[in-house]
Amino acid sequence: MKSILDNRPGLAKEVGRIAEVAGYLWQKGWAERNGGNIVVNVTEYIDDEIAAMPAIGEAKPIGATLPHIKGCYFYCKGTNKRMRDLARWPMENGSIIRILDDCASYVIIADEPVAPTSELPSHLSVHNDLIGKGSPYKASVHTHPIELIAMSHCNKFLEKDVATNLLWSMIPETKAFCPRGLGIIPYELPSSVALAGSTLSELEDYDVVLWEKHGVFAVDTDAMQAFDQIDVLNKSALIYIAAKNMGFEPDGMSQEQMKEMSVAFNLPK
Ligand code: 13P
Ligand code: ZN
Repeated sequence: MKSILDNRPGLAKEVGRIAEVAGYLWQKGWAERNGGNIVVNVTEYIDDEIAAMPAIGEAKPIGATLPHIKGCYFYCKGTNKRMRDLARWPMENGSIIRILDDCASYVIIADEPVAPTSELPSHLSVHNDLIGKGSPYKASVHTHPIELIAMSHCNKFLEKDVATNLLWSMIPETKAFCPRGLGIIPYELPSSVALAGSTLSELEDYDVVLWEKHGVFAVDTDAMQAFDQIDVLNKSALIYIAAKNMGFEPDGMSQEQMKEMSVAFNLPK
């Protein structure tokens, strides 16, 4: 079957990276059934032939008006599609969409009529903001990491930067590779515009945010980098839990040791 990826090595590599990450999400146990979604801005790979491709099906509303994404193209995981299937067949479990000139609707252009993720309002609001700010970030990843979600069931960890400081203090790499920490989003209905709004504002200060009792949402230059930020945070959560299971509260690195990391690695916080 013909695919938009044929003879387009740049686009094929980007979609290949998304598929690789989808496989990791499944292997981690973070992607039960259709859990999680990935959206990547692929506009840089669009050539004249793709720009002239007709829509597959009707225009659909995004649920928000987003002026900076006018005419942009995104790879989106399909709603109700499994990460473990996307890992093997990315163009059957996701699709490439084009944002229309009204900045409020999109059409699917390739390869098949796979409707994009139900979390599209959150993903596209964030991409709109990233483009508006001139950010180099092109990818947003939402997933259901078990231990981080478990922490979100405890009020103490929902206070500003309590989870961030605890997770940073479990192993030096977490602060180095997730230097802006973990933002907190109080519970909102999945797929809602309210969830999109609070995600957008919390990402002003963080690259990864925890959706209370639901999952995490991360942004970075590509899907692999976004995955890595979530992975280091969840690793810290696992170390914390391992210590608790051994029957003690972990000491954590001291504030001095964490400050020393910030200076040595020129970290923002
Ligand atoms: P989708 O299957 O629509 O991507 O939804 C999965 C999910 O995790 C919703 O929060
Ligand atoms: Zn979810």
